[in-house]
Amino acid sequence: TRIDKAGHKHFMAKEIAEQPGVIAQALGHYISSDGQIILPKPDIDFTAIDRLTMVACGTAYYACLTAKYWFEQIARIPVEVDVASEFRYREPPIPARSAALFVSQSGETADTLAALRYCAGKSDTILSVINVPESSIARESDLVLPIHAGVEVGVASTKAFTCQLTVLLLLALRAAQDRGEVDAKTLARHLSDLRDLPNIVSTALGANAEMHQAAIKLSEARDVLFLGRGLMYPLALEGALKLKEISYIHAEAYAAGELKHGPIALIDKHVPVVVMAPRDALFEKTVSNMQEVMARKGRVILVSDATGIEEFGQEAFATIEMPQISSVLTPILYAIPAQLLAYHTAVAKGTDVDQPRNLAKSVTVE
Ligand code: G6P
Repeated sequence: TRIDKAGHKHFMAKEIAEQPGVIAQALGHYISSDGQIILPKPDIDFTAIDRLTMVACGTAYYACLTAKYWFEQIARIPVEVDVASEFRYREPPIPARSAALFVSQSGETADTLAALRYCAGKSDTILSVINVPESSIARESDLVLPIHAGVEVGVASTKAFTCQLTVLLLLALRAAQDRGEVDAKTLARHLSDLRDLPNIVSTALGANAEMHQAAIKLSEARDVLFLGRGLMYPLALEGALKLKEISYIHAEAYAAGELKHGPIALIDKHVPVVVMAPRDALFEKTVSNMQEVMARKGRVILVSDATGIEEFGQEAFATIEMPQISSVLTPILYAIPAQLLAYHTAVAKGTDVDQPRNLAKSVTVE
C-alpha cells in the first residue's frame, strides 16, 4: 500500500491527526466486547513477576518512563527503566521472577535488540511493545504486544508514542488486575475513560490555533525549557526531544522540583518555559515552580486544563488549554501539545520536518 500525506503538508502533521483513529484501533485490539483486557498468546501471569525492567531508545524510552508511574502506582510492581545503550553494557543483574519489556516502533533498533539478547535466558519473560510485527525484536520476544499505529513515516515519532502509551497502560491495568491491586469497579472506570480517549484527543487537536500562536514565540528562542512533575515529567522530556529534533532549537526538560538545582540559573526573559501541568494532585507544586520562573522574568507557556488556566493562566505569558481528563490518562492527551508545539515551531523556522538533518527513522547500527 502506498502511503501519502492525505492532504497534509507533512507526514508528521498527518500522523499527529491520525491519533484518535489509531488509539481507538489499539484499544479495540486489547479490550473485548465484555470489557476484559485481552493480551495476545501466550499471555503473561503478573502474579509470577516481582520486578519489571523496561528498555528502549528515544521517544520509546520516554514511553517507558511514563509507564513506570503506571506499573508502580496502579499495579505496585517495582520498575527499572534504562536507555538500551547504557543497559546493554552495564551488565545489570537480572533478578529471579522478573520480566523484561522492550519498546520500539521499528523493532529494529540495534541497541534495543542487543539489550533484549542480554536478557534472553536471564529474565523469566521477554515482552515487546512494537509497531512492526515482523521485526527482529518481535521475533525474539516471548510475548509481542503490537501497538497497531500503522506505518509511521515522519522521523520524529508521534502516533507510535501515543499508541505505545495506550498499550503500556492496558498492560499495567492487566498487571494490577492479576495482582489484585485494582477492584472491578475501578478497572471498569479506567477502561471506560480509555474508550472516551480518542474523542478527547480529537478535542485537543482542536486547540491547534493556540499552539500555533505559542510556537511563533518559541521559534524566536535559542533555548527552551520544559517542566513537569509526576506523569508530566516524561512528557516534558518528550516535548523537549520533539522540539530539538525538528526545529533545531536547544530544548531541555527538567522535573519541575529540580528547577532550583540548576536550570533556574538559565532563566531570563529570553527563555520560554513550557510548563505541562494538568490540575492534578501535583498542580500546586508545579505552579510554585512556575512562579519561581516568572519572578525571574521567564516567559511561561502553561499547558493545562480549564481549571488550571482559570486559576493561574493570567500569570502566564501564553496558555494552551487541554480538555479535562482522568489524571492517569494525561500523558496520552498532553502528548498532543508536545508534538504540535514542536511541529508549528519547525514549520515557522522552515526546517525539513519529516526528514530532520542528521536523524534516521530507525537506528540499526550502534
Ligand atoms: C530514532 C528515531 C526516534 C525513535 C528512536 C527509537 O532515534 O528518530 O523517533 O524514537 O530511534 O526507535 P524505535 O524504532 O526503537 O522506537
